[in-house]
Amino acid sequence: MSDSAHARRSARRYHLHATSAVSAPRPRQASPDELAQDRLEVLLGPDDLRQGLERDALIGLSASPKWLPPKYFYDDRGSILFEQITRLPEYYQTRTEHAILTAHAADIAETSGAQVVLELGSGSSAKTRLLLDAFLATGRLSGYVPVDVSAGALRAAMTDLRRDYPGLALHGAVADFDRHLDELPAPGTRMVVFLGGTLGNHPPETRGEFLAALSAAMRPGETLLLGVDLVKDPDRLIAAYDDSAGVTAAFNRNVLAVLDRELGGDLDPSDFAHRAVWEPDREWIEMRLRAVRPVRARLEGLDLDLAFAEGEELRTEISAKFRREGITAELGAAGLTVEHWWTDDAEDFAVLLARR
Ligand code: AVJ
Repeated sequence: MSDSAHARRSARRYHLHATSAVSAPRPRQASPDELAQDRLEVLLGPDDLRQGLERDALIGLSASPKWLPPKYFYDDRGSILFEQITRLPEYYQTRTEHAILTAHAADIAETSGAQVVLELGSGSSAKTRLLLDAFLATGRLSGYVPVDVSAGALRAAMTDLRRDYPGLALHGAVADFDRHLDELPAPGTRMVVFLGGTLGNHPPETRGEFLAALSAAMRPGETLLLGVDLVKDPDRLIAAYDDSAGVTAAFNRNVLAVLDRELGGDLDPSDFAHRAVWEPDREWIEMRLRAVRPVRARLEGLDLDLAFAEGEELRTEISAKFRREGITAELGAAGLTVEHWWTDDAEDFAVLLARR
């Protein structure tokens, strides 16, 4: 990193008491009991997200076939739509993962042996409470490190957690875990928590890079708690990504609204149909937006003219599904040894613990 880039980055870092006015930056206080005060580390500013979108949109929308990374779904409206997805009858993942965590949280806390829970993509931190409660019962837990790209979600989560977990040190980080893994706080032996099946958003190549970077950022003995969706009947998978109420369709089309707002576009979501496709060779679900008529549009912010032929598709997400042997080998290649594997009776979803 260049000196000026480093300076820019460092300038964005500050710490604060979650109980004080959260918008007021405070100077960092070096004290021996740093863990006893709440901190929020900002590794990612609003400009970074915006620049990432500019770069990714330029690359993906100029490519053939066109594609976009899924991380831009999650503006405020997209986050609300995703919350609704997690409650759909067809979308079994969230409730199944929750049931697995409920059944095995004590076991997870015991076998992990961690002092600190660090969660990638913590969002509202709602499901984490199960884990925090179990870890607190072991008497070893000293801190929780929520990591999310959304500063607003983090601040809200930390305020709620502060109220409900008075003795727990909170050390949040606003960060993009595709970029900042080696800069994340490590105030003790950690269990890195990456739930919800989000690893599946990576195709195999970048997944290997991500796991290698994650492993490199972990110390020997630290653990990874990973939630993965499993390969199953394609009809159930397609239904989970093309629900009868149309919530996933609205979620998918919302990325066009994000482009319009952030990049000065004039795309009309009603020009596009939602599609969910199972790719049997790759064992992943693809979400696509298909132009239902010839579409011409412009992204002013990128000075980019777009043309879609009728029927042309834009890939907006891949969601890979896993098998036990496959993910065990992938983690092994990254230096992470799977020690435990928990699943529901139907083997729809798995939560695994791997050690560095
Ligand atoms: C949050 C990435 C795990 O892939 O199932 C839900 C996102 N996309 N419905 C998934 C999503 C469509 C979700 N992940």
